[in-house]
Amino acid sequence: MNKTGFIFDLDGVIVDTAKYHYLAWRNLANELGFEFTHEQNELFKGVSRKRCLEILLDIGGVEATQEQFDRWMVEKNEDYLKYIEKMNASEILPDVPRVLQFLKERQIPIALGSASKNARPILEKVELLPYFDSIVDGNNVTKAKPDPEVFLIAAEQLAVRPENSVVFEDAVAGIQAANAANMLSIGIGDDKVLSEAKHNFKDFTEMDDGFLESLIQQGSV
Ligand code: BG6
Ligand code: MG
Repeated sequence: MNKTGFIFDLDGVIVDTAKYHYLAWRNLANELGFEFTHEQNELFKGVSRKRCLEILLDIGGVEATQEQFDRWMVEKNEDYLKYIEKMNASEILPDVPRVLQFLKERQIPIALGSASKNARPILEKVELLPYFDSIVDGNNVTKAKPDPEVFLIAAEQLAVRPENSVVFEDAVAGIQAANAANMLSIGIGDDKVLSEAKHNFKDFTEMDDGFLESLIQQGSV
């Protein structure tokens, strides 16, 4: 029998940090003299920090030298970290602790698979770090989602096969990465946006224990 492993994205699946990313990018855009909307922020979900800045500068029609580009990356992150600093467990998305606890009680291996380089401090802040057997984040990968690298490393660290891995994701690029890794993709959010996912849920409150149990069984055949 093969073990099933569960891999969680962070931003938008475990915590709602998209609003803080948005504020920090908006501050930078305003400083550079243009607006940045909530709709435009949708393009940034699951996308690496570097790629986000490239898109932002495209939106504003701003040309940057390498030195400016590097400085703005740092500036945005320092700003973002000021918001993160104030986070606590109240910002965990609904029913995430229930799902993590359910898996933990059954000794199911759990990993984080995130594009963020701030994943560890965020999990510490919201006190969820102890649930994770492995953390693979933006510091560990060379290729961004939709490349499957982040999830393949996570499965390897959990010692589970890709085809026995379940991925929870809120970004299109993340669902594509999970599918490319031959894992079971589960979209958390808008099912129209995440139509490539194998299953979809608005959030974890819609996912009952019976479904979680079926995922565990599915992977372990
Ligand atoms: C992803 C977010 O999880 O992490 C993106 O969805 C973000 O919006 C990316 O750009 C990188 O995050 P960080 O914390 O390394 O800037
Ligand atoms: Mg996400």
